[in-house]
Amino acid sequence: MDNNEQAEKASGANKRKRKRKEIAPFGNYRNYYGYRIGQEFEEDPRLKVLKKEWFEGKDCLDIGCNNGLITIAIAKKFHCQSILGIDIDPDRVEDAHWNLRKILRKESAGKMHLNTSKIEAVERANGLHDCTSASSNEQTKDISRDFSTCKEKDLSDIVSFQQENFVQSWRPRQDKSYHTILCLSVTKWIHLNWGDDGLITLFVKIWKLLHPGGILVLEPQPWSSYAKNRLVSERTAANYSEIIFFPNYFQEILLDKVGFRKVENLTSSLSGSKTGFNRPILAFQK
Ligand SMILES: C[S@@+](CC[C@H](N)C(=O)[O-])C[C@H]1O[C@@H](n2cnc3c(N)ncnc32)[C@H](O)[C@@H]1O
Repeated sequence: MDNNEQAEKASGANKRKRKRKEIAPFGNYRNYYGYRIGQEFEEDPRLKVLKKEWFEGKDCLDIGCNNGLITIAIAKKFHCQSILGIDIDPDRVEDAHWNLRKILRKESAGKMHLNTSKIEAVERANGLHDCTSASSNEQTKDISRDFSTCKEKDLSDIVSFQQENFVQSWRPRQDKSYHTILCLSVTKWIHLNWGDDGLITLFVKIWKLLHPGGILVLEPQPWSSYAKNRLVSERTAANYSEIIFFPNYFQEILLDKVGFRKVENLTSSLSGSKTGFNRPILAFQK
């Protein structure tokens, strides 16, 4: 075989490799945000419709957090008291920890630079810059200590991730409750894997975990999108054909059966490919 033939064979093998479809029976895609968000948006457009008061100083839970990017973005943008991301796939949870560490490193490098600039500015104002006496070093240390003690709550104290199956096995601490729970693009996967029973378990468990007045932010996938994923496993295929609680009824189920008091459609005026919203985002209040 000459070099050209070898190269062609290798490139054919690469193409086949690239074509091999990722198997993600729980919607546990790697690089989910790569194809979800697209190049034209600088931040996940869903962040724009969320209300600050649901998150600021609040305890929050993100069910099906995937690689944690939206969990971290919410913590940063809205200053949660705490936010826990849980996902069934240990690899996605590892990605989430990795993303958190990367963002923390970037932030601490940024803060260090800012602090150094501030210290230099104060030194300059006090005529201390370039002065090497012991007393000026002491003053610099004092200023530096002041800056580091008044820094905001660290992101690592706010955001955490856990590998859990929310429907089947996750048992939070008995007295634990949340002000806000996110369930974004997860219902289809729970529905396909655990059927109508799993879906109802999800909704009831969320309701129980919320404080009175708490908010469920729900982004359900439409029934039309179930068909293309129904064959990811034998179980999903079997459940698909048994489903009777179609996504069109979710609102009714959550209000009339589960017990939520009211619902707001956050995206009613925003649908269309240009806005990045091709499915509704609903906020239910307990
Ligand atoms: C399509 S992704 C959505 C990610 C993220 N919520 C978003 O919208 O940006 C669905 C995620 O739900 C997770 N998931 C599915 N079933 C789950 C379960 N029973 N418990 C916890 N996570 C689950 C998957 O592993 C996957 O990462």
